[in-house]
Amino acid sequence: MMESVLWPELAGRRVLLGVSGGVAAYKSAELCRLLVRCGASVDVMMTRSARQFVGEVTFAALSGRPVATELFDPAQEAQIGHIGLADRAELCVIAPATANLLAKLAHGLADDLVSTVCLAYHGKLLCAPAMNVHMWQHPATQENLATLRRRGVSTVGPGAGEMACGHVGEGRMAEPEEILQAAGACLAPQDLAGRAILVSAGPTHEPLDPVRFLGNRSSGKMGFALAAEAAARGAEVTLVAGPSALETPWGVRRVDVRTAAEMALEVRSRAPTHSALVMAAAVADYRPRAVAAAKLKKATLGEHPVLELERTEDILGGLRALCPDAVLVGFAAETGEGLAEHAARKLTAKGCDLLVGNDVSALGAGFEAETNRVVIFEAGEGAPSSEPLPLLSKRTVARLILDRVARRLEGR
Ligand code: CTP
Repeated sequence: MMESVLWPELAGRRVLLGVSGGVAAYKSAELCRLLVRCGASVDVMMTRSARQFVGEVTFAALSGRPVATELFDPAQEAQIGHIGLADRAELCVIAPATANLLAKLAHGLADDLVSTVCLAYHGKLLCAPAMNVHMWQHPATQENLATLRRRGVSTVGPGAGEMACGHVGEGRMAEPEEILQAAGACLAPQDLAGRAILVSAGPTHEPLDPVRFLGNRSSGKMGFALAAEAAARGAEVTLVAGPSALETPWGVRRVDVRTAAEMALEVRSRAPTHSALVMAAAVADYRPRAVAAAKLKKATLGEHPVLELERTEDILGGLRALCPDAVLVGFAAETGEGLAEHAARKLTAKGCDLLVGNDVSALGAGFEAETNRVVIFEAGEGAPSSEPLPLLSKRTVARLILDRVARRLEGR
């Protein structure tokens, strides 16, 4: 599974998946599979019309559990128990949520299994609306949604595009991975709620001429995992990203940049309004001194051309003066010996609260890997403390870094 959709918050949690009658019901089968793959225990309940689109056997096979379809079936009631479904669930996801079901939820109707269970359920509810564009735009639907949101119901999507009914516009159910991410965010602790966090990620590309650049092997995975985790925990996240093919994590505002100078500009102008700054980008320390206006030619460069470089601005190094009260997190990529000394020196020199050191040459750690092995250095009263972590997924490393950020933000 893609790192971006790995949600540790879902492992071991009881999720109730309500499927109502729309063409998008087939996408909910994939959602069910993803939830199970994240380690959630999934109970599925379906409306009668949902079963016109997808058979309950599909969901039973994917969830490995019986599927609830009837309110007044004594056999099903003995086996599943509709109030039990509501009581057991830690999160209820309605996908697709049709205009009809949203209306019933908004008005507290309980005339079938799904609406009855939803009325009996008092936990976190996530709806993924799916309907024809005109039904979506209808004031009745929009007012029902506003009512539900006022009561704390979360929504994901709908997206815009071509729909099964032939219309083009808003109303298409969010993709299963997007719903999964929203579900993970619903279950994450909200210990960063209301905090503005700025994350930098990825490499920078320093142009030589219109077609060439100096870059590095950073994929952006560590920074994107940090942004995803912070957003899931309620932070308002801005991600300043160097060139990266990764998808923008759910709930994150992304600002794309190319060079160290562009990254410096975007980070520095935004930094003062943020309470934590996490600089995970692998910023180029040098750039070509001159950028050729036209493509450099072998004929003019000769056999042994020499490239003249100049220093880029140290973005992290200038942030403490700009943001005296922010929690500042730096990264140090090293290859081999001396990691502890280099990292501890950088922590103090750059005025960081935390510095994450990683040996990018170690097995399973480093640039393109899904996992990372890091040592977290933390400033304290005396000498910085250091905590080596085992080999972990980048998402888990992100969680452990942000646990420390959340602690340091307490009372600030
Ligand atoms: N960084 C930065 N601006 C730069 C270079 C690096 O903000 N121009 C940030 C990175 O985002 C990272 C940290 O500084 O958080 C890395 O520190 P740095 O001393 O640049 O690390 P290395 O480049 O690995 O240092 P050295 O070459 O001295 O080993």
